Amino acid sequence: MCGIVGYSGTQSAAPILLNGLKRLEYRGYDSAGLALVSPEGIRVEKCEGKVVNLVNQLGDFDKVPSLGGATAGIAHTRWATHGPPTTVNAHPHAARPAGEEGNRVALVHNGIIENYKALKARLEADGRGFVSETDTEVLAHLVDSFYEGDLVKAVTTALNQVEGTFGIACVAIDEPGVLVVARRGSPIVIGLGEDETLVASDAAAILRYTRQVIYLDDNDVARIEGPKVDICSLDAMPVTRESTQIDWSDDAAEKGGYAHYMLKEIFEQPDSIWNTIRGRMDSDRGNSVLSGLNVQPRDLAELHRVLLIGCGTSLNAGLVGEYAIEDFAGIPAEVEQAAEFRYRNPIVGSKDLVLAISQSGETADTLAAVREAVDKGALVAGLVNVVGSTIARETGRGIYLHAGPEISVASTKAFTSQVSCLLMIALKFARAARMSRERGVRFVKEIEAIPDQVREVLKQNDHIAKIAENYIKAESAFYIGRGYMYPVALEGALKIKEISYIHAEAFHAAELKHGSIALLTEELPIIALVPDGPGKDKTLSNVAECRARGSKVLLVATEGDDEVNDYGDDIIRIPAAPLHAAVIPATVALQLFAYHVARLRGCPIDQPRNLAKSVTVE
Ligand code: AGP
Repeated sequence: MCGIVGYSGTQSAAPILLNGLKRLEYRGYDSAGLALVSPEGIRVEKCEGKVVNLVNQLGDFDKVPSLGGATAGIAHTRWATHGPPTTVNAHPHAARPAGEEGNRVALVHNGIIENYKALKARLEADGRGFVSETDTEVLAHLVDSFYEGDLVKAVTTALNQVEGTFGIACVAIDEPGVLVVARRGSPIVIGLGEDETLVASDAAAILRYTRQVIYLDDNDVARIEGPKVDICSLDAMPVTRESTQIDWSDDAAEKGGYAHYMLKEIFEQPDSIWNTIRGRMDSDRGNSVLSGLNVQPRDLAELHRVLLIGCGTSLNAGLVGEYAIEDFAGIPAEVEQAAEFRYRNPIVGSKDLVLAISQSGETADTLAAVREAVDKGALVAGLVNVVGSTIARETGRGIYLHAGPEISVASTKAFTSQVSCLLMIALKFARAARMSRERGVRFVKEIEAIPDQVREVLKQNDHIAKIAENYIKAESAFYIGRGYMYPVALEGALKIKEISYIHAEAFHAAELKHGSIALLTEELPIIALVPDGPGKDKTLSNVAECRARGSKVLLVATEGDDEVNDYGDDIIRIPAAPLHAAVIPATVALQLFAYHVARLRGCPIDQPRNLAKSVTVE
């Protein structure tokens, strides 16, 4: 997920673009850049890192005609997907016909061009050269290859050949003052002004200048010149879009109207999970396509074991992966705490696949565990959200989550995307073993159903907020679950610890009787995971043991399952689903519960004390 801003009007464009980028930095902070159109031509300025680096690079631009004098331009803050966060991979990407001087077209993009390799090969055959590793530069050259003085025509022709997602803004030397923007899958909002128009990935970037906006729909293309906005479809048919008035405060806008980044990221999960699974499963073959993992079915026959390593939330996701890989693929799998793995001289070798799970890709213990596994000759792959991060680079193979930047310290959408990836990995391994195509086809459907199941849980936000009121006085809490629900209990306990400071512990439900049950009192609530499926009845009998000792009980149970009604003081319902998939909606329910308990306790939810988003020290 990146941030795009554009401006066409009578004011100097540069300061407006830079302000907009700052507001969108939470969307990506790997690199930044802008392209300004003036009689001098298209001037492109870009750099690695945060927007402040670009501000410093532009220096005192007011006095520079091709900078301060430009009244139209586009800008971008990047969350790298293809190619590490370097200046050459930064946007905007410019293009011109082979052998010609000066940029003719420049473009910024948010999304993923899935068929960029094929397009690139064709453009290279036509003599075009590429300087970056990005899919976006391919799109810039594709647009330029159709450019004959009409940017809208060139953009629509190009986009009709593109597979994947995009939010783009584009400028051309022969049409100064004109921006062309388009979207499919990635947001673009147009801000209407007196004698100017702004565009952005998120209204947060333009609210300072206008509150009258138009949201583009998928496959919309808009031509913007000053206050003039013309929208058409990808087949050039005119389209009318209503404008709306935004009433958010400036600060709230950055959080998209949510009170906290954590809540925003919880509500982003239907989309972030879809971004993770999109284009990675083949519903005909009933299999997943994880080319980045670069492990072929025949390699799997050789594999003795899968080791899943990580810390914190990533470790909990790993435990779901352990269950699913053993359950469906029948390959021995073990989850390992990274810090322990790196120091205990682990027995690991060339017949082992080590999966390093990390949102940031920078966690010191996980990185060191990767290096230990590499030194021991294991096959090592990463499951990472931050593109170009150290773990991604050092493993050299793996899967990117594409969950978008996660700003809140308490990880939420990264966990559900990690679990989605691990289920796709289990499917791939299972199909290479004994799972039939029919079962594979069903498994694909089970994973594709998850975003809607999460939407059903999010609809209960008010109900869960109400339930949370009954638990804010607790200073301790126990989370219990069995099988796939045990890692959910672990993740639920971790969330509430991180943001509400309640001392919570998670147990495999059967473990309680072996000691910890001694701590049960009326003040210590139990949060029990009892969705319909194997282990539910046993867990319910453990819940009965806790209620017998006066504990208050919150259940997470399946919609319509009346069997559990008498076991809970409060119940959060999740849609019916097989347990390996129910892991995700059940976790979202506990994320919301933790969020509201912390909110009601007045805790600093996005920046909890003592925590850092990425633990790069031991
Ligand atoms: C989770 O909410 C915490 N931020 C923390 O436990 C985190 O999961 C852990 O530090 C691992 O981080 P990583 O996924 O970036 O490696």
